[in-house]
This record gives sequence, C-alpha cells and structure tokens, in this order.
Amino acid sequence: MQFFVDTAEIDDIRELASTGLLDGVTTNPSLIAKSGRDFMEVTKEICGIVDGPVSAEVVALDHETMMKEAEVLRKIADNVCIKVPLTMDGLKTCNALSRDGTMVNVTLCFSANQALLAAKAGATFVSPFVGRHDDNGTDGMDLIRDIRLIYDNYAFETEILVASVRHVVHVLEAARIGADVMTAPPKVIHALVKHVLTDKGIDGFMADWAKTGQSIL
Ligand code: E4P
Repeated sequence: MQFFVDTAEIDDIRELASTGLLDGVTTNPSLIAKSGRDFMEVTKEICGIVDGPVSAEVVALDHETMMKEAEVLRKIADNVCIKVPLTMDGLKTCNALSRDGTMVNVTLCFSANQALLAAKAGATFVSPFVGRHDDNGTDGMDLIRDIRLIYDNYAFETEILVASVRHVVHVLEAARIGADVMTAPPKVIHALVKHVLTDKGIDGFMADWAKTGQSIL
C-alpha cells in the first residue's frame, strides 16, 4: 500500500520523505489555507521534495474553468496530480485530463456509485473520505470494501486512495481490504510506528546492554 501524507506543511513533508516511506502528498484548499502559504509556491516546493504524485485541487465548480485551472496547476511540475470534486463537471474534467495523460484524483467521494463513475471517467485515484463518513454515523470502511469489490469486478485501474484517515485503525482496515493508497495527517503516520511493547523491549535491552560494559563503535 502506498502512503501519502495529507498536509501542506513543508517541515512535516520533508521529515516523512527522509524516512523513505512516503509515496506522495495530498493537499486541499483547507490545508493550503491552514499553511498560510501561496498555493502555487507551496505546491512547487512540495513537488520538489517528493517524486510521487502531489495532489493540487481546482477551486472552480464549472468544467471550463476547472480546465483552465488544471492547465495552470499541471505546469507546476510533472508530478502534479489534478484534484477535482466528484461532481458532473469534475468528472467531465477528469475525463478530458486523463485522456490527455494527466494524473487526476477525484475527491470528496462518499458512495460506491460515485467511485464507479470516477473509474469510468478514467481517474488515476478516487478519494473516498472514511473519517467524514464515520462522523456522519456510517462506517467509512464499508465504502472501501464496496469500491474494492466493484473495481475488481471490472478490473478498473483507478486506485483507491483512502482519505480523511483519522487514526491508525483506519490504516489497518484499509490495508486489510486491499486499498491501493491511504493519505493521512503526519501524526497518524508517526503513530503507526508506536507500540508500547517495542518501547518496553528497547528499555530492557538497553538496561541489559549497559551491564555488559561493551560498545559496538
Ligand atoms: C484528501 O485528499 C483530503 O485532503 C483529506 O483526507 C480530508 O480529510 P479531513 O476529512 O480530515 O479533512
């Protein structure tokens, strides 16, 4: 499973990229606003840190303007992936861009039928939002299971990018189901490495090693 980080914070992206575990980045208008940075400038900087796809979202709601915005965004770098909303205009834009060889991430997916449409429109990625589903009282992971089943039924190549990930159990479930990608805030990715027994084990080994009076270097 590929790991994307869902942020526009450069320091967090650099730190995760240095681990070799990061495959891409997703941003959205809210994350750009939170960063306080210029959209074009921060996106260019992110694209220079990671080799993988960097999702940059259009903000127009109509197809013609989405195409114009996409034209500007895709000039930023070769690894820009144009993010469009799951609307009829977004799907039309997805279709036009993907025919042209541009990576497209169809975002704000909340139903399996929407995901089916995104695949038919040639999306590189579809982003079902599991956390927001859970917030709404429905199990977001049921949606991922349905999309996996439908995409496998028809051998769609669109990758399932599990988004709105809030905690480590979302990551575990997404991996069990066979989602292709998950995007999570930095703190969730950092939490994946933590286990109390790992910390306890290290403490024990360090204490016993100190008793030997030896050193490796
Ligand atoms: C995905 O691309 C979105 O940016 C993101 O995962 C949304 O997450 P949220 O529901 O925590 O805002």
